Amino acid sequence: MIVAPKREDHFSFGLWTVGWQARDPFGDPTRPWLDPVESVHRLSELGAWGVTFHDDDLIPFGADEAEREKDILRFKEALAETGMVVPMMTTNLFTHPVFKDGAFTSNDRSVRRFALRKVVRNLDLAAELGAATYVFWGGREGSESDAAKDVRSALERYREAIDTLAEYVTDRGYGIRFAIEPKPNEPRGDILLPTVGSALAFISTLEHSGMVGVNPEVGHEQMANMNFVHSISQALWQGKLFHIDLNGQRGPKFDQDLVFGHGDLLNAFFLVDLLENGGPGGAPAYDGPRHFDYKPLRTDGADGVWESARANMVTYLLLKERAAAFRADPEVQEALAASRVAELAQPTLAPGEGYKGLLADRSSYEDFDVEAVASQSYGFVRLSQLALEHAVGAR
Ligand code: GCO
Ligand code: MN
Ligand code: MN
Repeated sequence: MIVAPKREDHFSFGLWTVGWQARDPFGDPTRPWLDPVESVHRLSELGAWGVTFHDDDLIPFGADEAEREKDILRFKEALAETGMVVPMMTTNLFTHPVFKDGAFTSNDRSVRRFALRKVVRNLDLAAELGAATYVFWGGREGSESDAAKDVRSALERYREAIDTLAEYVTDRGYGIRFAIEPKPNEPRGDILLPTVGSALAFISTLEHSGMVGVNPEVGHEQMANMNFVHSISQALWQGKLFHIDLNGQRGPKFDQDLVFGHGDLLNAFFLVDLLENGGPGGAPAYDGPRHFDYKPLRTDGADGVWESARANMVTYLLLKERAAAFRADPEVQEALAASRVAELAQPTLAPGEGYKGLLADRSSYEDFDVEAVASQSYGFVRLSQLALEHAVGAR
């Protein structure tokens, strides 16, 4: 029985995902323009809970005030008719040629000031629509030539931008949190803050670091050859997983933006297991939107657009079901115990012991049987195979 997505599953989609007309660097669009109002209705019918968007997805760049108001009004009506929400918003700081050398980190100071103004205007709309999270994906913040960009100054300007915008949000009392989305390259040859780790390090330098977290995307970490489950684990460990972009990718190559699970399926299984069961006592480790940022295949027509939207949600729910079965299986619990997975949660030193106690403990060194301990088996192969068998529904 295939599972059916429901509102309570908190699935959300970017308007730019289903609305992608499939223009790529080598070819023209293969699909017509899709009205955001239609996207809201279709996604709602499929069981989604929210939509997210860049300012330009809804309001064409350069639209006058009257056109802007009209676009927003139509969109709000669609939200009211369907009960769909806007959990996240973001700014397009990459399409218009003015941003060809970046937005917050363009060498041209006037571009940086224009970019800040574009974001501020959209933050007002985000607050109006009740978005809790504002994403910053710096696709054009980077370079192709090491001669062309002073990276230390670029990072300083990036910091200045995020802190200025954080101050604006705080002064206005908007209660919006920021989430930085890393990506190693594409469209720039090299993008600043290429991985979750670099974004987390950058965030720690901010004046308003408490309100800034990350929005990791499956494919972006995998483009950088990272293990997404590890990256998400570190973001969770630092209390910084504010949002997530789910999709699929097959290894380090161009950004494929495949349907969730259509890349590294086993990594997707462990990701869902972590998000859904990785909290205290097996509770969810993440309670934010399950947001899909993918592209319907360029080969497909409108049928493929909605089929792929459905596929993202169904795949997530199937993996959630499979992960629950994995956790509940007594054989898995026994294998986890044999592999001593839970033992890692136990502190290495006893309470109040410190290094003095450690030095006084002969069993930890002088009398430690190195050879006996070295010869033990951790049983990880059996555990991995149990996971795989659950993931593919064989158990
Ligand atoms: C990508 C990115 C973008 C951003 C989005 C938010 O695939 O390169 O995912 O889609 O997430 O533009 O700004
Ligand atoms: Mn992507
Ligand atoms: Mn993304």
